[in-house]
Amino acid sequence: MSEVVTYNREGAIGVITVNYPPVNALGHAVRSGLVAALEQGQNDADAKALLLVCEGRTFIAGADIREFGKPMQEPGLTSVIDQYENSDKPIVAAIHGTALGGGLETALGCHYRVALSSAKVGLPEVKLGLLPGAGGTQRLPRLTGARKALEMITSGEFVNAKDALGLGIVDAVEDGSDIKAVGLAYAQKVADEGKPVRRVRDVTDKVEAEKGGEVFDQFRAGLEKKARGLFSPFKCVDAVEAAFNLPFDEGMKRERELFMECMDSPQRGGLIHSFFAEREVSKVKGLSKDTPVRDVNSVGIIGAGTMGGGIAMNFANVGIPVTIVEVKQDALDKGLGIIRKNYENSAKKGRITQQQVEERMALISGSLTYDDFRDVDLVIEAVFENMAIKKEIFGKLDEVCKPGAILASNTSTLDIDEIASATKRPEDVVGMHFFSPANVMKLLENVRGSETSDEVKATVMAVAKKIKKVGVLVGNCHGFVGNRMLHKRGAEAMALVNEGASPQQVDKVLTDLGYPMGQFAMSDLAGIDVGYRIREERRNAGEDVAPSWMDKLVEMNRLGQKTQAGVYKYEEGSRKPIPDPEVDQLIAEFRKEQGITPREISDQEILERCMYVMINEGAKILEEGIADRSLDIDVVWIYGYGFPAYRGGPMFWADQVGLDTILNTVRNFHDTLGGQQWKPAALLEKLVSENKKFGDL
Ligand code: 3HC
Repeated sequence: MSEVVTYNREGAIGVITVNYPPVNALGHAVRSGLVAALEQGQNDADAKALLLVCEGRTFIAGADIREFGKPMQEPGLTSVIDQYENSDKPIVAAIHGTALGGGLETALGCHYRVALSSAKVGLPEVKLGLLPGAGGTQRLPRLTGARKALEMITSGEFVNAKDALGLGIVDAVEDGSDIKAVGLAYAQKVADEGKPVRRVRDVTDKVEAEKGGEVFDQFRAGLEKKARGLFSPFKCVDAVEAAFNLPFDEGMKRERELFMECMDSPQRGGLIHSFFAEREVSKVKGLSKDTPVRDVNSVGIIGAGTMGGGIAMNFANVGIPVTIVEVKQDALDKGLGIIRKNYENSAKKGRITQQQVEERMALISGSLTYDDFRDVDLVIEAVFENMAIKKEIFGKLDEVCKPGAILASNTSTLDIDEIASATKRPEDVVGMHFFSPANVMKLLENVRGSETSDEVKATVMAVAKKIKKVGVLVGNCHGFVGNRMLHKRGAEAMALVNEGASPQQVDKVLTDLGYPMGQFAMSDLAGIDVGYRIREERRNAGEDVAPSWMDKLVEMNRLGQKTQAGVYKYEEGSRKPIPDPEVDQLIAEFRKEQGITPREISDQEILERCMYVMINEGAKILEEGIADRSLDIDVVWIYGYGFPAYRGGPMFWADQVGLDTILNTVRNFHDTLGGQQWKPAALLEKLVSENKKFGDL
């Protein structure tokens, strides 16, 4: 008998227990153990009913993703579930934690399902570029009907136990925490009442009622927008539709064919890389798991602007009190007002209750003095990018804050070591770079200074988790990982337009790759006056900064979305960028002034220049140890800039394109275009010479 699945009898109930930490995934040992344990249960004359229950934190959380792409070892999951469904003794699945993917499919193959009220169920395969491939697309709609099954399967969202009961996915929900006791009691009831074996495959009322309905086409139309660029959500609809058009066994065959199409799609590889990368980033190289973590039970924030306010919301959302300090009362009032408005909007959309709005607002207090930071555990400075001001602030924090308080800067580019030098405790100083809008974007780029202590590094990574962000620890350099690469892309996008491309052509290439918006639409969102101010400051300091057609836009008060005109124009209340002939004209004049004869630029050249310049910079970032692994860069780009997760992040994408192809093109651009940005990274050259990928590092 396998060690991970055991069989024993308690009274009249044969208990099959899965114990395969951390999440009881359906690896080969579990699948074969399930078959063996079922056989024992079938042969146990004293077992009147069987119970499937899991040890540890959760019911089965799905197929073992680590086995994907390797040769499949029998028994396959579909066959295991068939054997459970065909058992002539009734089987009860007792669900705690999360029954996900193959886990829920296994439970659906059982005859009854009971869940703890804290449990959740779902079919999240779509998030991995897949569809439920062990009967989920055929059994779930038999219980819930088409629409709900389509919603669950195409979104991958979980459903809580109470809703699952209402939808007929589970038969009973019990409070408490002892899943085994709950399962045993339910199985005993099944045995005592002589309840029959009840197979979901035989439930036909809902599939008959909705046969040939329009819901599938409606759903496909809705997905065109929601699932732009994705492959598997559409295959999910095809599979669910098969449950309504085909007999069960044929529907299962169709599901398998569609599942294999998804398995073979490159999107599956990208999404699974993203899944593991998101988890790997929390394991920081050189930082032991037992590094002590400081308590962060109160937070101070400097600056009540968009960034400061958004950061404050993250902490209030998880019950941590925040004090925001501003210089002037009206700025403070304005900032607090915007936070309230954001919460009220969430309440209007039904995302939180009015009571939660009040609870969260009660956790956020405003102040005009740093004295109120005396007792806080962490301070995050979120004022605009100016080194002198930041140093002055950190000097003051050093005087006021208690020993052991963490002093963080939300700077997006500046030198953390220089900021830390304004204090007598550089070991407590760290960067915590949030992405705008800070209450929405999931990335937290934590920046270690050369003297930041391990304890502080571990604490800011733990804080990220606590506030439900994905934390990535990176090294200190101008722009860190994300903005350093973005700046290279931005400069290349500008150069392409100077040479003859239009902003909309550049943006389209980027959105076709899967970015939510292009370089120029992003500039409009952020406000193009930001870059202008930086260029002006540098010019005033005597630097030779090349003229830009963007400067002319700012001088015309076309600042971006906030003035309804920037690189694009915008209709009242809309964020949709509309190309503007006035801007095309302005760019044409600019080229004339600069003596540039515009040329036709192909989409392929735009793609290569915008992406390869980032990859080359990413390689330099790895070489310098600013990022520890290529997956850290991938996660920064997926969660900070909306790089399509189905492409796995820029460095994973580069590995798929082929590093030799990229290096050849980078060399060519270095020869033809010149510039430091095209000097091939030594690491890129090394990897190509060794026939290796970023993923091999
Ligand atoms: N296979 C292999 N490993 C898995 C796994 C899976 N299905 N799910 C989670 N893990 C691993 C994680 O990689 C992590 O490993 P680590 O500790 O070495 O980093 C560990 O389990 C714990 O995971 P989390 O850090 O994510 O823990 P949480 O408690 O935050 O979340 C969870 C638990 C909700 C189960 C979350 O891990 C999750 O959503 N897992 C994926 C579930 C899923 O997608 N299931 C469908 C799989 S595909 C399938 O079933 C195909 C079928 O239809 C044929």
